[in-house]
Amino acid sequence: METKMFKMKIERETLTELILLLFEEYGYDFRNYSLSHIERRVDSWLSKNMLTVSDNITALVKKDKALAHSLIHQFSISVTEMFRDPELFLNIREKVIPVLATYPFVRIWHAGCATGEEVYSMAILLKEEGILDKCKIYATDFNQSVLDTASKGIYPKDKMLEYTVNYYKSGGKKALTNYFESQYEAIIMNQELKQNIVWANHNLATDASFNEFHFIVCRNVLIYFNEELQLKVLQLFDESLVNHGFICLGDRESIKQDGLNKNVTILDVANKIYQLSCF
Ligand SMILES: C[S@@+](CC[C@H](N)C(=O)[O-])C[C@H]1O[C@@H](n2cnc3c(N)ncnc32)[C@H](O)[C@@H]1O
Repeated sequence: METKMFKMKIERETLTELILLLFEEYGYDFRNYSLSHIERRVDSWLSKNMLTVSDNITALVKKDKALAHSLIHQFSISVTEMFRDPELFLNIREKVIPVLATYPFVRIWHAGCATGEEVYSMAILLKEEGILDKCKIYATDFNQSVLDTASKGIYPKDKMLEYTVNYYKSGGKKALTNYFESQYEAIIMNQELKQNIVWANHNLATDASFNEFHFIVCRNVLIYFNEELQLKVLQLFDESLVNHGFICLGDRESIKQDGLNKNVTILDVANKIYQLSCF
């Protein structure tokens, strides 16, 4: 009887071939993702698909489109929550929104929005500060299936207790229940929050800027990239911000604001909230 050795590590050469194949045949560029991330994700994808390192993985992925897309999705880690890192939302409320409130209209970009909880949190915050109507939120990710979930805005009810705690810590002014309807074991985010959000497929590794923004939020995404790609994406954000625009990178990134060409004012060191200045 054949014994499958699911735990054996994939060779570096096969990994490189596989990543190149995903780029050349399927248009997804993971060449500058962090190697340790790629290795971990491919190993777990092999086990899930009952494949071993001795199978001709590259040939299988070349032939089987569904298998290739399951691997592509494997590189998308979409863990998120509402009002994640509440003190960050509190600082946005206190330091960013008062400036945005002075503009006639506001464009916000959530890059790597996953299933959308972060985006609805922002919409709630903007609503409470009285500026949601003049804001357009562009929420993007390269993974279409998480975007589909995000646009529906339907989430499990059992998460709401944790999200309510986060919401109050973030300076929430009402009850979180004001912003969704309950249906059996799920909650559905209110239409008034959805109407100013545009959900779109955008790949930070390959796609260009698509607008000029007053505020860009990109948290827990750059950690999966190598330094070269992190820098490239920071430059993309830099080009995409208006003068005096704001950017928030969150507390898990180890990078500094080096990719941002202009001088920046640091509004929150821990959560990496910066405002560009252009002197
Ligand atoms: C851990 S989630 C972060 C969600 C949210 N920003 C947060 O902090 O709660 C990372 C998301 O980044 C997305 N992502 C990874 N690489 C990307 C790329 N090249 N372009 C766009 N999105 C990407 C993944 O698909 C995933 O949904």
